[in-house]
Amino acid sequence: MQSNAFRLLFLGDMVGKDSLEAFRKYAIGWREELGLDMVIVNGENLANGSGITVKIANELWRSGVDVVTTGDHVWKQRDFIRRIDEFPFIIRPANYPPGAPGKGYIIWAATRGVRVAVLNLLGRVFMQPVDCPFRKADEVLSELEGKTDIVLVDFHAEATSEKIAMGYYLDGRVAAVLGTHTHVPTADAKLLPKGTAYITDVGMVGPQYSVLGRVVDNVVRKYVAGIPQRFPVAEPPIEFNGVVVDIDLESKRVCSIEQWKKLIYLD
Ligand SMILES: [Fe+2]
Ligand SMILES: [Fe+2]
Repeated sequence: MQSNAFRLLFLGDMVGKDSLEAFRKYAIGWREELGLDMVIVNGENLANGSGITVKIANELWRSGVDVVTTGDHVWKQRDFIRRIDEFPFIIRPANYPPGAPGKGYIIWAATRGVRVAVLNLLGRVFMQPVDCPFRKADEVLSELEGKTDIVLVDFHAEATSEKIAMGYYLDGRVAAVLGTHTHVPTADAKLLPKGTAYITDVGMVGPQYSVLGRVVDNVVRKYVAGIPQRFPVAEPPIEFNGVVVDIDLESKRVCSIEQWKKLIYLD
């Protein structure tokens, strides 16, 4: 299905190996069914819920994804810190301090001649300190001038206010500001006044019956007893949470943003 809109699917934090397995099984079918030009996932929770390994990065590449964003968990797996540069399709938050390995944005030469930049930013409210995501966004946008047709931002952050503020800060300057990190989808997908598609959080790709992807009993025990617990990733079914964004090919303006949800039972 080809239309005069460029259509992308953006999926939130992917948690654990079963999420990747479900994605690998269904992604190609969804491309066809939804007429997708591009698929982006946030992969920061793939390795047992925390980070990405080299093996997972290779599996991701074979699974039919175009770009992978990350977040505060990106450095949780040691081998990946040294080897992130081997994976050009994976980005990490751009506002990590200078000298961090990897890169904070990518220009993806998409189908139908559209150059898509994806920028990953990390919030600072209720999170570990990093450089200012707002100033970093300005800096990257001026670097990107004339080099890209569409800019998408994954703003990986905890506080709803910081995320909404970023949406308005970038309104009219980027195609979309899509929130990740909380693993819970928000019901506020909209076009902002100057045309940027926005959602506070797209939600996760992870076990449906879980606390943010982790086994329920362990998390409950932590809260009830106050004793530290291990937090293994829960079992399938896997819920997929994301958004489908349509961008007019001629004007490069966003036509629509819609939440997208699927539940997958793995045998
Ligand atoms: Fe996160
Ligand atoms: Fe996450």
